[in-house]
Amino acid sequence: MTFTAQILTLYPDMFPGPLGTSLAGKALEQGKWTCNTVQMRDFATDRHRSVDDTPAGGGAGMVLRADILGQAVDHALAQQPDAPVIAMTPRGKPLTQRRVRELSAGLGVTILCGRFEGFDERIFEGRDIEEVSIGDYVLSGGEMGALVLLDACIRLLPGVMGASCSGDDESFETGLLEYPQYTRPVEWEGRIIPEVLRSGDHAKVEAWRKAKAEADTRLRRPDLWERHGGASNPPPSGARRTNKED
Ligand code: ADE
Repeated sequence: MTFTAQILTLYPDMFPGPLGTSLAGKALEQGKWTCNTVQMRDFATDRHRSVDDTPAGGGAGMVLRADILGQAVDHALAQQPDAPVIAMTPRGKPLTQRRVRELSAGLGVTILCGRFEGFDERIFEGRDIEEVSIGDYVLSGGEMGALVLLDACIRLLPGVMGASCSGDDESFETGLLEYPQYTRPVEWEGRIIPEVLRSGDHAKVEAWRKAKAEADTRLRRPDLWERHGGASNPPPSGARRTNKED
């Protein structure tokens, strides 16, 4: 099965962009995923091919028109009726590894990339669209967000990462940050790889990693630690953890 990414954008040249290289690029060549872009401007109706207009109520910038977006989304749905439609916007629900895992297990995703001041809100009333943010900062458009979302999904597709790393140990998969990693040389600028990691004692290594993951999460990401339930909560698993908030 090929995971199909359908991207509605005013800048189709941005795709596959960086996803045409490295792991995702190889997977694209191998047909493990497909990247289709749709130029939203093709759904404009005037001779200037305009897709946006001034905000109702006044204010800076321009807003993507609901009628144009509606036509573009309907076209995308006709191509791929069963894939979720996601709009990239800083107003959206923050993207999580859990959602990435769900998406990567599906048929694909249709992504609507915003520009300017955003989307006419009525598009979200008139169509089943999930609003997603990749973080609390504002990008100049949704394209970078779409690339981030797709990268996170593609690496989880079967056969993309290889058997060596299923991803299960990584940051967020357990509800915690991942433990720190080291590799040779054993000594660098007087700094030595922790002894336990060189001991060959797998149980001790596991215990050390768990303790580090917990300590680092508590210090760096108190929000994650809180959600994890602190030390009182046995670590979750199975794409794998049930977050209390979800
Ligand atoms: N478009 C602009 N900013 C964004 C963000 N933070 N996440 C997703 N899409 C965006």
